[in-house]
Amino acid sequence: LDVPETDPFDVARTAAREIAEATGIARHDIALTLGSGWGRAADLIGETTHTLDAEEITGFSAPALAGHAGKLRSVLLPGGKRALLIGARTHYYEGHGVRRVVHSVRTAAATGATTMILTNGAGGIRETWTPGTPVLISDHINLTADSPLEGATFVDLTDLYSRRLRDLARTIDPTLDEGVYCQFRGPHYETPAEVQMARVIGGHIVGMSTALEAIAARQAGMEVLGLSLITNLAAGIQTEPLSHAEVLDAGKSAEPVISALLARIVAAL
Ligand code: 6GU
Repeated sequence: LDVPETDPFDVARTAAREIAEATGIARHDIALTLGSGWGRAADLIGETTHTLDAEEITGFSAPALAGHAGKLRSVLLPGGKRALLIGARTHYYEGHGVRRVVHSVRTAAATGATTMILTNGAGGIRETWTPGTPVLISDHINLTADSPLEGATFVDLTDLYSRRLRDLARTIDPTLDEGVYCQFRGPHYETPAEVQMARVIGGHIVGMSTALEAIAARQAGMEVLGLSLITNLAAGIQTEPLSHAEVLDAGKSAEPVISALLARIVAAL
């Protein structure tokens, strides 16, 4: 993937073939990337029949961070569909390039998945979103100044975060708010001034993932659902300094509730 001449879709097809060989499952219907706070959903959405070390699949990198387990799972859903669970996110801030960031999404598409559910832990700009609140992503603002698309690939991003899937999620939990997700490069958190900028340009959630992955999913023709767990209020919205430990703690305590929510959404797909 690091060689410009390599076709990243070839690499994704190779990875998908390896997953099919390792699992004996020729096709997955939906894929989920489980971000911080969402991991418990893996055990709730269905029966895990195969667990793979992502590192053993072509194009996947070693996990950069404790708490971001590098596993891929094939899960049999109660209705008989197959889900590919991606517990192996490569973040843009790791600096390995955008192809690595979206490889899991392209691999999911190559396994046959037509629905991509992207989850993350993120900072909230709305004061009413206390830590532990799940929020539907209605749209995004990509502040990385990068794109997974290469060359003259013009892709429409209207309704990128599917209205149909957002409506379906709200049939499960009518209290779900939605907001615009701003992807910053990270890995530092934003300054209070940057959070104000995000607010002024129409953002409600700040994070370090998802937008680039959603673009790649759309390019691959998938329908996208995005969910953020608000782990903390963004800098300047809360006066306390932010810490990664605080983010992980909020994720841990919200995990049972939001994982159950996600499992119910998947069951309704
Ligand atoms: Cl405040 N910002 C970003 N970029 N990512 C986060 C966060 C904030 N809180 C959790 N993840």
